[in-house]
Amino acid sequence: MVDLNELVDSDRGRVDPRIYTDPGVYERELEFVFGRSWLFLAHDSQLPKTGSFIQTYMAEDPVLVVRQRDGSVKAFLNQCRHRGMRICRADAGVSKTFTCTYHGWAYDLEGNLINVPLEDRAYKGNLDREAWGALKVPRIANYRGFYFGTWSDETPDFEDYLGDMAFYFDAVADRFDSGLEFTAGTTKWVIDCNWKFAAEQFGGDMYHTSISHASGPIALTDQQVVRGDPNLVQGRQFGGDGHGSGGYIYPERNMPPNFFRGQQEHEFTEDHLDEIEARIGDTRMKKVNNHNTIFPNFSWLGFLWTMRVWHPRGPNQIEVWTWSFVPKDATEALKREIREKAQRTFSPAGVFETDDGENWTEVQQVLHGFKARQNTFHVGMGLGHEERNAGGLPGVTNDVFSEVASRGFYRRWHDLLVGKSWKQIQKEEAARVSAIPESQPELAEGAR
Ligand code: FES
Ligand SMILES: [Fe+2]
Repeated sequence: MVDLNELVDSDRGRVDPRIYTDPGVYERELEFVFGRSWLFLAHDSQLPKTGSFIQTYMAEDPVLVVRQRDGSVKAFLNQCRHRGMRICRADAGVSKTFTCTYHGWAYDLEGNLINVPLEDRAYKGNLDREAWGALKVPRIANYRGFYFGTWSDETPDFEDYLGDMAFYFDAVADRFDSGLEFTAGTTKWVIDCNWKFAAEQFGGDMYHTSISHASGPIALTDQQVVRGDPNLVQGRQFGGDGHGSGGYIYPERNMPPNFFRGQQEHEFTEDHLDEIEARIGDTRMKKVNNHNTIFPNFSWLGFLWTMRVWHPRGPNQIEVWTWSFVPKDATEALKREIREKAQRTFSPAGVFETDDGENWTEVQQVLHGFKARQNTFHVGMGLGHEERNAGGLPGVTNDVFSEVASRGFYRRWHDLLVGKSWKQIQKEEAARVSAIPESQPELAEGAR
């Protein structure tokens, strides 16, 4: 039997690999971690009109997310209350009602049960329809057009849950006057790995990039700094409240000088530099651009225009759902260029995505061995070198080649898993953060 208390030691930077494999741990994390966190549901642009819906998941639970008549967005478990069939089997669309295809119970846009075939004859007045609606997601937050949901009453409000991560999320979510939209469709595929490998890595692991992703840049450019040569780049990694963000520092506003950037994107960015700076400021334009995860499983890569959810499918598998996002006022040509760039780099056949998936499946396979599972993993990079509010970046940061975000991710995961209350978790986080030294002002700018 696994002793839950021994699985993670974030103060020393150690994790037990059974967190990635153990079925009991997995069952518990569905309820105690996913069930008590805010999970990404949909973006505004995916639900353009009354009755627009998408089918998604909160961990393993299928949910329908639906635009209501009053413009709000609601979500409910996509499970018929009669025998548990999916109420709606389409991925997305527009509808007035949802009718179960098994025996035909029908539900409205809020998930209320509104029609039952042969009701009088079959139930003889004994069915209380009001009591048999779909199970509603009780709390939904709309943060700059991004909808998140949680099953839990106890979880702090979304902005409180985000904490300092709001600064990093806003670098993308609040970047343009016109706002963002998701391009049509969701790209989905399966990877045989535990969801935490993906979520943790996207939360700030820039350490792997020059090694795992070496071949693409070598083929595309001979500029070392553009390739991300770790001896040349500077950067910071943020980690707080389980979330993470890692980015290189670029001296110019119109950066990174990346070889994926097409003509349309280059021109659009040049035209919008002042607008972006007015919205998010110089610091974020130059320092916040890359790996990000909002705990537990919503991630994005800023300058590669990809967002995704790592849906868990048992301890050994994930379903990856990705979207490209674009500025709303972009031309059709730019939207196409961005979508194609995201597909070329971070999609099932993308030149970089395949590097990442290869690592995660390999690690997961090694963990089939009983000795491999009894080992200990090192998550101690940069331990003790955290600083607060360094270089205009709020919260706890460290060198970009550190694991401050990973330690924070596993700490939050473990605290939830063992059943600590949110109050306790937040109290401990505040105490830990206040014990970390403020950065030295003379080092604050330039050196970072
Ligand atoms: S399972 Fe849905 S109507 Fe029977
Ligand atoms: Fe990667």
